[in-house]
Amino acid sequence: MQLSSEQLQHYQDRGYLFLPNVFDRAEVEVMKAELPAVYGENSLGKIVEEDGKTVRIVHGSHTKSDVFKRLSQHPRIIDPVMQILESAVYIHQFKISAKVAFEGDIWQWHQDYVYYKEEDGIPEPRIVNTAIFLDEVNEFNAPLMLVPGSQKEGLISVFTEEEQHNQYQDGPSWISRLTSKLHYIINKETLEKLVKQYGIVAPKGAAGSVLLFHPSCVHGSGANMSPFDRALVIINYNSVENTPKIPIKEQRPEFLASLNYTPIEPLSDEVLLV
Ligand code: SIN
Ligand code: MN
Repeated sequence: MQLSSEQLQHYQDRGYLFLPNVFDRAEVEVMKAELPAVYGENSLGKIVEEDGKTVRIVHGSHTKSDVFKRLSQHPRIIDPVMQILESAVYIHQFKISAKVAFEGDIWQWHQDYVYYKEEDGIPEPRIVNTAIFLDEVNEFNAPLMLVPGSQKEGLISVFTEEEQHNQYQDGPSWISRLTSKLHYIINKETLEKLVKQYGIVAPKGAAGSVLLFHPSCVHGSGANMSPFDRALVIINYNSVENTPKIPIKEQRPEFLASLNYTPIEPLSDEVLLV
């Protein structure tokens, strides 16, 4: 699947591109059938909400589930990502953001690239984040919101020492970056200015739709108080020409910052249905 020059331009200007109905109902069903096993796993890469039981994020499922491995090499994802980055790519991070009905908590306003730079040593924001909708995303189930164009400001996130999530108070430092209290956030004054200038978008659509966004594009989401789940598979692809080089204090676990820089080979188009 190739993007048109208008779509590429939209991504460059606005920092995101929404592609409705990339995967059909049968393909979405194949992916959703994996979720009970993914959510039921007992691993370090599974992060829960503050209630101590609701799944918030699960990392690294492409190394455990054959379906998610195939998704991560799907040409309908990889081809546009390679086109945007003009190079081969590898998977820096794979996660499922569960945003469970009634319980899914907020994501504070943030930029992803500050984490990839400060914590993983990635030199440039030559990364594309891809969010694959496993559920319909509507106005009720806390769609991901973006400040379109904010990637042009570069890194503007500020460090915060906010009180940490009860569940992980004594855990390793990388965990505190993944809960509803983030480590680098966009403060209220900055967000107000950015939104005055750029506005906010919240792409909504059917399960199977895909949202591509730039890692410096400011984004966040509210709590899901609706009765509708809103699961996203989020795969961050980095250019193979942009592997980590900046010295870092401590390597994050491999499920957060992959050390496998092997270029992804796109598989065939029907790969989720075979
Ligand atoms: C993220 O920023 O990685 C997740 C956002 C969300 O699921 O709303
Ligand atoms: Mn993010």
